Amino acid sequence: MESKIEIISNKHKKIKKENLNLEFFNKKEIKNSSKFHESIVGYEKTPLISLDNLAKKLSLDKIWVKDESKRFGLNAFKVLGGAYCIAKYISEELGYERVLSYEELLSKEIKEKTGELTFVTATDGNHGRGVAWSANKMGHKSVVYMPKGSAKSRLDNIIKEGAHAEITDFNYDDAVRYANEMAEKNGWIMVQDTAWEGYEKIPTWISQGYATIIKEIEEEIQQKGENMFTHVILQAGVGSFAGAITGYLASNYKENLPLITVVEPENAACIFESGKSDNGKPKYVKGDLKTIMAGLACGEPNTITWEILKDYSSYFIKCKDELAAYGMRILSNSIGNDKRIISGESGAIGIGVLTYIIDNNIADVISKLNLNSNSRVLVISTEGDTDPIEYRNIVWKGKYYL
Ligand SMILES: Cc1ncc(COP(=O)(O)O)c(C=O)c1O
Repeated sequence: MESKIEIISNKHKKIKKENLNLEFFNKKEIKNSSKFHESIVGYEKTPLISLDNLAKKLSLDKIWVKDESKRFGLNAFKVLGGAYCIAKYISEELGYERVLSYEELLSKEIKEKTGELTFVTATDGNHGRGVAWSANKMGHKSVVYMPKGSAKSRLDNIIKEGAHAEITDFNYDDAVRYANEMAEKNGWIMVQDTAWEGYEKIPTWISQGYATIIKEIEEEIQQKGENMFTHVILQAGVGSFAGAITGYLASNYKENLPLITVVEPENAACIFESGKSDNGKPKYVKGDLKTIMAGLACGEPNTITWEILKDYSSYFIKCKDELAAYGMRILSNSIGNDKRIISGESGAIGIGVLTYIIDNNIADVISKLNLNSNSRVLVISTEGDTDPIEYRNIVWKGKYYL
């Protein structure tokens, strides 16, 4: 049987003594982002679900799935980044050293100082919806450009949050360039979820926002008196999300760092390709980046979080789309009293890969990842059914079967 995944070990990995590249993700920084999120009306921790029967079937000690479909009712984690970044931007512009709370940002006093701002971004859907929601809640405007092929349902959800949004003819990376041009031309604020040379501050705030997820997970596991996870599988588009989680873990768990594996679709595996490069510099993947994992269809790594993934992750995997569909079906059709989780293409890939490796007894990967009956694996379902029509096609009709 042809393998549906390719794995490489991270030859650049090193645990540096002086916490290199981690200053943005230490406990103090991430306390700021999570404190801001907690101040938003309607904030609730997303569920951390233990799939005990699936763990038993795969002969693992534990499988935890953090269900980000429940994040502020927006069906994906991305709003954590957009909301924190807007809060941090306004706080800094107004000369505050701390991050203003949600209530303060809505106050008359602050609104008089800022006036109405316009935030612009390019997105496959989830980030744009988060930016549109945040801008709208805080009384500002947003403009969202989407790459060609973006689902109409995702566009509609962004428009519903009050944004001006359109599907362009560009691939993701060119849509980002276009949004940047429009920001410069119109004096809008570009809130992009990826960094490049010269554009680092805002994407770093966005990544810090994502780290609220791992802080919540850590707190819940500690409160329950459970042992920490030994493995984490993180999906990557540009790597801002994976880098944020890795950065927080590396900053806080040094010697006890869980084994971190980064997973990407085979046609958009820019982190994998960067990991393969001899000089450790970020590598670009060109073309249409065709994959059903829309959130992961990115060809250019975030330059800041790439440095973190390069230093602290252990393995890079690229895989076929069918594994995302497989993961969606597994989470939707849970075993026994395991909770059912509605997970979209980009959300379910971690479970898809994990189950595929073990169920098909892919011995070299099992041994590399050191998966055994003591393994406690964390995956993060980063989205729900953000494209509901494809969700049904996959889960009900078996589209993209293995
Ligand atoms: C649902 C989902 N999961 C994961 C990611 C990957 O995040 P990043 O681009 O930071 O790697 C995205 C990005 O849009 C996403 O929408």
